[in-house]
Amino acid sequence: MPVVGIDDLAIYIPKLYLDYKDFAEARGIDPQKLEYGIGIKKMAITDTNQDSACMASNACLKLMQRNHLHPQDIGRVYVATESSLDESKAMNSFVVGMLEQIYGEGSFEHAGGIECKFACVSGSYALYDNANWIRAEENNGKAAVVIVSDIAKYDMGSTGEYTQGAGAVALLVKEKPRLMAFDQKVASTTIKNEYDFYRPFGKETPLVNGSYSNLLYLISVRKAFDAYKEKAIKSGLIKLKDGESITDHIDFFAVHLPYRKMGEKALAYLLRHEWRHLPRWKHVIKEIGTTEPQPKDARGTIESILADTQFMKADEQFRRAFMQTSFYDEVYEKKMATSLEASAIIGNLYTASMYMGLRSLLEFEFKKGTELAGKRVGFGSYGSGSSAMVFSGVIESEYKQVVSKMDLDEDVGPRQKLSMEEYERLHRNERAFTDSVVRAHKEFVLVKLGGITADKAGFREYDYVS
Ligand code: CAA
Repeated sequence: MPVVGIDDLAIYIPKLYLDYKDFAEARGIDPQKLEYGIGIKKMAITDTNQDSACMASNACLKLMQRNHLHPQDIGRVYVATESSLDESKAMNSFVVGMLEQIYGEGSFEHAGGIECKFACVSGSYALYDNANWIRAEENNGKAAVVIVSDIAKYDMGSTGEYTQGAGAVALLVKEKPRLMAFDQKVASTTIKNEYDFYRPFGKETPLVNGSYSNLLYLISVRKAFDAYKEKAIKSGLIKLKDGESITDHIDFFAVHLPYRKMGEKALAYLLRHEWRHLPRWKHVIKEIGTTEPQPKDARGTIESILADTQFMKADEQFRRAFMQTSFYDEVYEKKMATSLEASAIIGNLYTASMYMGLRSLLEFEFKKGTELAGKRVGFGSYGSGSSAMVFSGVIESEYKQVVSKMDLDEDVGPRQKLSMEEYERLHRNERAFTDSVVRAHKEFVLVKLGGITADKAGFREYDYVS
């Protein structure tokens, strides 16, 4: 079977941001809560003339230009998003339209693709499906591009408001990738009908059950991880010796990042789950000084666990103490910390969050001088509603060709800080889309929205501003 994976990835981040100190002051929140409790310093905000389709196109154009790709090299363009623009017309059709302004009318005609939706996890399904399209040799020698693009916008004054952000990541999926080859036969999923976070038709912001969504994320990723573990052991990908945990065989973790702190909590949850039956756990408990609390009903539902306030309080305390141990700290610093850097200065990107985390990990580990070839990255992807996917990949020996050129500062570029007043006007959609805050430069932007005549209703037109 051909070796398939990620050859390169390019990002696009809008040029406006909101600073956490301004936000904290305006909302009467301790800035330390945002900096340490959530893990946010700057939230990327879209301008009036930007949407998820033009961010996706900007990321894809960067990817194509950097790799000297012509549309003929690409057989599929997928967009995974939960910031859809039309109930029927797929976002990748808008993207192809924009790219054809550069590469010529009809230049993508030979290709295919769809828009994918399952909250923040759909990009992972899109990657997996496209990897299998190549493995099945249906690709006629062509690569696939999977773009994850989203605007995380919450109600003003809600607790979700400080977990906003926006941006896109375009991933080049091909045979013999330079960056990372996916491990085969181990990708694992879980799915359940849930209402932790959802956005009914016509609503711009989601309805969120915050604490429920946090716990559901942890439990869902853990379930998918259990299935991954079973497959990894059965397939011989990972061989466990006595006293070992599967987490010992994963060199880096990249997980869904609605906010930085959620990544830290996900790692803590996973390590507790994987370690509590191993000999090392007694050393962990000794360092913490208390045993792990148990819920009244160990087989209870998420609701019953959340309602068990005594347990929840004790468990939160235990989790915080666990995160202070040398055992957690060693894994966190070595295997996760670098993947969280980008999240703190960009915010939530929904579908794109985990892939921005991967990008962050690669760049900052490389800058630290870590030798990455042969290292396994374990992914914990979560989408509300809900589904999780756990899979892994191994960094290829040619990775330096790609990673040495990564520069987050340059990619994010100079950004304009918004005042709270400007931010709130944008949030309320009070500025016309033609009245952008910054002047676009070398990027696609929205130039026409809807037609004058009824037959053009819903039309969105974009231009490349050089
Ligand atoms: N200094 C330092 N830390 C402080 C502090 C202070 N002054 N005050 C509070 N904190 C800490 C708290 O102790 C807490 O830390 P721990 O997690 O270690 O306990 C942290 O700040 C968060 O505070 P709260 O527990 O009070 O939480 P909140 O009311 O601010 O809500 C949230 C947090 C539930 C995540 C909310 O932002 C939210 O609803 N966000 C949207 C939903 C979401 O992101 N869910 C995540 C899972 S679902 C998903 O992942 C899909 C997706 O992309 C949305």
